[in-house]
Amino acid sequence: MKALILVGGFGTRLRPLTLSVPKPLVDFANKPMILHQIEALKAIGVDEVVLAINYQPEVMLSFLKEFEAKVGIKITCSQETEPMGTAGPLALARDKLDDGSAEPFFVLNSDVICEYPLKQMLEFHKKHGGEASIMVTKVDEPSKYGVVILDEETGRVDRFVEKPKIFVGNKINAGIYLLNPSVLNMIELRPTSIEKEVFPKIATKKQLYSMILPGFWMDIGQPKDYISGLRLYLDSLRRNLPKKLSFGAHIIGNVIVDETAQIGEGCLIGPDVAIGPGCVIEAGVRLSRCTVMRGVRIKKHACVSGSIIGWHCTVGQWARVENMTVLGEDVHVCDEVYSNGGVVLPHKEIKSSITKPEIVM
Ligand code: GDD
Ligand code: MG
Repeated sequence: MKALILVGGFGTRLRPLTLSVPKPLVDFANKPMILHQIEALKAIGVDEVVLAINYQPEVMLSFLKEFEAKVGIKITCSQETEPMGTAGPLALARDKLDDGSAEPFFVLNSDVICEYPLKQMLEFHKKHGGEASIMVTKVDEPSKYGVVILDEETGRVDRFVEKPKIFVGNKINAGIYLLNPSVLNMIELRPTSIEKEVFPKIATKKQLYSMILPGFWMDIGQPKDYISGLRLYLDSLRRNLPKKLSFGAHIIGNVIVDETAQIGEGCLIGPDVAIGPGCVIEAGVRLSRCTVMRGVRIKKHACVSGSIIGWHCTVGQWARVENMTVLGEDVHVCDEVYSNGGVVLPHKEIKSSITKPEIVM
């Protein structure tokens, strides 16, 4: 079976992290976002993943070649010369997706995180017999997403409205699709949107079905949602794979710590924290609701909460970093400095406090 992951887009809402790597390679819970998806696809028998790419293909490919062997799956690229939207890339990769076998293929947005119930989706797809299935989930703020209006009994989609201005429903497109190759006949080779142009057409033909996604879901393409997504993800680990979480007197709630990270005396860590490989957390540090990426050093008695600390940063002694601060790669926060929601570009040194949320260039 095959799958295509949409990995284009500039990831502007996740800057400054996406100034260092393309969005799908930003770490989430200690591994690149896209790896969560590739592993889930592999687990249900997908043997080839096509990455639909229009930005920094070299970085992406060299990185993924490493995982191709580790995960044991074929990863190929389909490169656009101009952004083709969310449907155009399917037409471009047509030869890879349609091998004449009529077998359906998966399509995934690269920035969604959930438990990926792909096996259930396959069964659902076979059962309804329509041309396309989409996974849907309920949210409080549907206007940011594609809203799906469906027949509760059969799951058949009556209407698909992308980013509606007025309320039409609260079940939204979760960005995970299973499509028959026949759908490719409906997509032209040009920049086009699957949400605005293709799904409404399939719905009119009464061939589009939706399955309510069991478990949590989050689009982690912006810092606030990334931090909420980590809480939901760790909560699901607690239920399904508690062995992956850390335990001990210094841990509160759900925390994952890479085995190569070092934690000093008298730290208090959690809830909802991810600490990446090679990190050094010195004595007396307090961490909560945050991600600390590979190679970071947090010095003595610093406090980090509700924030993302990018690769290879240092946070000085007694510093306090909070309220959705995002530090790009290799940022150095000096001793005793306070950051209240600072968004700091890579390679900066922060010598004085950032007292209100702002971008530091
Ligand atoms: N290859 C390629 N080319 N990929 C692209 C392009 C492009 O030109 N433009 C966007 N993408 C990819 C993004 O990288 C992402 O994985 C996916 O397509 C969706 O784009 P986003 O920019 O993240 O869209 P969104 O979050 O506003 O809305 C989409 O996702 C929601 C769920 O998170 C839509 O599919 C909504 O209907 C959906 O509810
Ligand atoms: Mg998105």
